Amino acid sequence: MSKTVIAGNWKMFKTQAETLEFLQGFLGHLNDTPDDREIVLCVPFTALGVLSKNLHGSRVKIGAQNVHWEDSGAYTGEISAPMLVEVGVRYVVIGHSERRQYFGETDQTVNLRLKAAQKHGLIPILCVGETKEQRGAGETESLITLQLKQDLVDIDQSNLVIAYEPIWAIGTGDTCEAKEANRIIGLIRSQLSNPEVPIQYGGSVKPENIDEIMAQPEINGALVGGASLSPEGFARIVNYQ
Ligand code: PGA
Repeated sequence: MSKTVIAGNWKMFKTQAETLEFLQGFLGHLNDTPDDREIVLCVPFTALGVLSKNLHGSRVKIGAQNVHWEDSGAYTGEISAPMLVEVGVRYVVIGHSERRQYFGETDQTVNLRLKAAQKHGLIPILCVGETKEQRGAGETESLITLQLKQDLVDIDQSNLVIAYEPIWAIGTGDTCEAKEANRIIGLIRSQLSNPEVPIQYGGSVKPENIDEIMAQPEINGALVGGASLSPEGFARIVNYQ
């Protein structure tokens, strides 16, 4: 059985003060959340310390949104795995489409970052997914197959989460049909050497659609952007029925 992982991806949102405010509104909603759901908050670097100071004794795991492949060096603007581990980070998002689109991330750099994360015991959340044009051209399956092939070279599949995020569904309110997300996630699973890798769906997940998404047999969790910024909204998502 794959683990269930529900992760919030805050992107470039929330100051330290706003992070504290979120925790005050969110943590009280987790008393009845089933134990077998892993809850993760992937936050900006400046909010990581706030989480590590305020999540003691809580079940919420800390996640980052990027990691460099070297342990240290002249890489202005980057952050290394040992730095993340030191502040209590357990998960790290790698290869998000926004990194690929705006910051020149390639399957080769994604692979290097995945290796560095695993070397230091971090669990990577690898994002894959197609654009609207690729979907329109019937290239979804081949594109995802290629991403997986290149991203997963020499990667340990016992320490990995994958997120299927169709780019056209991210931040658009245009969710992928739950059945179609289930189909693509099944396709992703068929290409893995370890079928137990948790595979999330991401792209306009919200309180209104989480129950249907999580009812799909292949879907093991969600990567949630906009809707993870609201303590009540994200609580409803982790407490899906
Ligand atoms: P969204 O973002 O939930 O706001 O669509 C998802 C993501 O980018 O991970």
